[in-house]
Amino acid sequence: MGASITLNRYLDDWAKTSDTRPTAEVVRAIAGAGKVISGLIAQGQLAGPLGMIVGNNSDGDQQKELDCLANAQLIDTLKASPVAFIASEELGQPIATGKPDAPLCVAIDPLDGSSNIDTNVSVGTIFSILPRSEEANGSANLHFFQPGSKQLGAGYIIYGPHTALVLTLGEGTHIFTLDPGDGQFKLTKANVQVPAQTREFAINASNYRHWDKVIRSYIDECLEGTEGHRGKDFNTRWIASMVAECHRILMRGGIFLYPGDDRLGYGKGRLRLIYEGNPVAFLMEQAGGSAITGKMRILDVVPSDIHQRVPLIFGSSEEVALLQGNHDTKRSTGHRSPLFSRRGLFRT
Ligand code: F6P
Repeated sequence: MGASITLNRYLDDWAKTSDTRPTAEVVRAIAGAGKVISGLIAQGQLAGPLGMIVGNNSDGDQQKELDCLANAQLIDTLKASPVAFIASEELGQPIATGKPDAPLCVAIDPLDGSSNIDTNVSVGTIFSILPRSEEANGSANLHFFQPGSKQLGAGYIIYGPHTALVLTLGEGTHIFTLDPGDGQFKLTKANVQVPAQTREFAINASNYRHWDKVIRSYIDECLEGTEGHRGKDFNTRWIASMVAECHRILMRGGIFLYPGDDRLGYGKGRLRLIYEGNPVAFLMEQAGGSAITGKMRILDVVPSDIHQRVPLIFGSSEEVALLQGNHDTKRSTGHRSPLFSRRGLFRT
């Protein structure tokens, strides 16, 4: 596959049956909305006060003007596609599209990383496509309480120096770059592979004192570099925009951590399972990477709340496995692993 294959052509080739066509239609709809959002973001302040705080969502997060515009744009577009229910991070409850028999349900984070809107740093739209659940019995939420392993498709659109749509339909993870010349998304990287090993980690280190011992020890060992147990130097990055971190990790490897911590309301971290954890986990696994809570695979978690948070660790498979091993050791022995006998760099 080369740069001339458009997203439309890719979807036409993929969706040969009546089972797959609705998913392709939804991806087309999201790509269409993404182009409008991309155009707005590219205008920056010329498009008005996009970063202005206009309220709070049901979970207490600040809502910016662009969060609301992106949400409205995506919902309008999705209502015209084969979708029965839409769940959005910006809405308290899922909305019915008026097509109860449509085969799909879609969860969206309309604008991830919105604290970066005014700083001209990459932000993104994240989406997760699920089959409508036959067991929901009229409850909109139950359609979304399926584990991430049931997703039919997932991805994000990153609005950065260029705009790109990163997609998985369960057959690898592919990157389509928006060509500003003709407004088409074009395949620029097929079957992305996340390197299994890495020397780069991303975590908001200002929360160090709030983490549990497993996370602290892991970060201590990365910081000890060649002088420590790991025997190699690590680099650190934190953009505070998960799509941008995810994109970097897809391109060159790395590990991202937003663990639970002991701040009020952060026991399960900050990120949402349905809107952020599941789609990113699907993309990572399809690219040879991994995504875990620390205790288990993200895609096996069964949601029980529409805005449920989840501790999220994803990226290069060997690095994620090492951290999973540290959690397992702590659980099985009930004691500190040998890692904890080391003196942390941040400790006195
Ligand atoms: O989900 C919201 C989000 O903005 C992510 O994109 C990002 O990774 C994280 O929150 C940033 O959190 P913090 O403000 O703790 O750095």
